[in-house]
Amino acid sequence: MNTRTLGKTGYQVSEIGLGCWQLGGDFGAMGDETARDILKTARSFDVNFWDTADVYGGGESERRIGGFADKKSVLVATKLGRGSQFEGMAKYDRRRVKESLTGSIKRLGVEVLDLAQLHCIPIEVLRDGEIFTWMDDMQSEGVIRHWGASVQTVEEGMLAMRSANCASLQTIFNLFRQDAVETLLPAAQKANVGIIVRLPLASGLLSGKFTKDTKFATEDHRSYNRDGQHFFVGETFSGLPFETGVKLADQLKQMAPKGTTLAHLALRWILDQKAVSTVIAGVTKPTQLKDNVEVSRMDPLPDALVEKLKDFYIEKVRPQVRGGI
Ligand SMILES: NC(=O)c1ccc[n+]([C@@H]2O[C@H](COP(=O)([O-])OP(=O)(O)OC[C@H]3O[C@@H](n4cnc5c(N)ncnc54)[C@H](OP(=O)(O)O)[C@@H]3O)[C@@H](O)[C@H]2O)c1
Repeated sequence: MNTRTLGKTGYQVSEIGLGCWQLGGDFGAMGDETARDILKTARSFDVNFWDTADVYGGGESERRIGGFADKKSVLVATKLGRGSQFEGMAKYDRRRVKESLTGSIKRLGVEVLDLAQLHCIPIEVLRDGEIFTWMDDMQSEGVIRHWGASVQTVEEGMLAMRSANCASLQTIFNLFRQDAVETLLPAAQKANVGIIVRLPLASGLLSGKFTKDTKFATEDHRSYNRDGQHFFVGETFSGLPFETGVKLADQLKQMAPKGTTLAHLALRWILDQKAVSTVIAGVTKPTQLKDNVEVSRMDPLPDALVEKLKDFYIEKVRPQVRGGI
């Protein structure tokens, strides 16, 4: 597994990380054994960057990571700012920030958090900027080692990077959402802010395995948030209407180089961006993680194919993406 530096943290992180939203059961119920097997698989392939959040499965994702003993040299990034204690608040406060972080510390069973990310907090709070000084305080007090932000738009990313201590940005970036190549990624690279890529497979669409008839469990956000009914529409299927995404993925499959799958093409395209530090694909089965780690060994995609993928995105995908790009 190749590693890259995660911005100002200086951490050496695996190119393929692990998204742990699934460990909370938000992609359909997940048993303890499957969760443990996924984490074991991550360890066996040196996947050393695990992304979670205080709210995933109401804390279950963090608890499962906390309960997994073999975590030597694993870096766990968690998030704060979306819990019910912040709901409806136009202005966050320092006390709630510290309490959230302390809760994560307990569930993860650590003394200090490796990386705490502001979890898509309201843009007004980012504009205000006071929260950055509280995160700096948390760092000085030894509650966290570093902090970053998970954002939904380029504007939010730029706002977070105003703070000199913002070490990383987590963003939606994939073959169905390519614009950051020319905007957020160069800005982050210039500021030495590490890029953590979420939704690399557009919630699984870019594995090419779904058909228009695929059904998801009731508790899976791909069922209840399909059209943004509960949270930001862009977090589910990258903002594409499901059936449109299935059709576009079927067309993209034809472009995967011989002997590779659409998932490989999608992940390799992201890794070919130098500004990217790690890609946190989420998995519901250990076999998916085994498949994803293969991409770290693949050669970069040929320029002509990258151009073709860009044209495909501009002409066929971008006009259909909901929720802004
Ligand atoms: N606001 C935020 O900060 C935020 C929001 C969303 C996500 N995240 C983080 O980002 C991570 C990744 O995002 P995501 O999980 O939403 O989207 P994703 O990584 O694009 O898609 C994950 C889904 O893709 C499928 N998959 C993965 N590898 C596969 C493979 N090799 N072959 C076939 N299918 C494969 C699985 O689908 P099936 O379940 O159908 O098997 C899996 O549940 C999350 O786990 C979470 O840690 C953060």
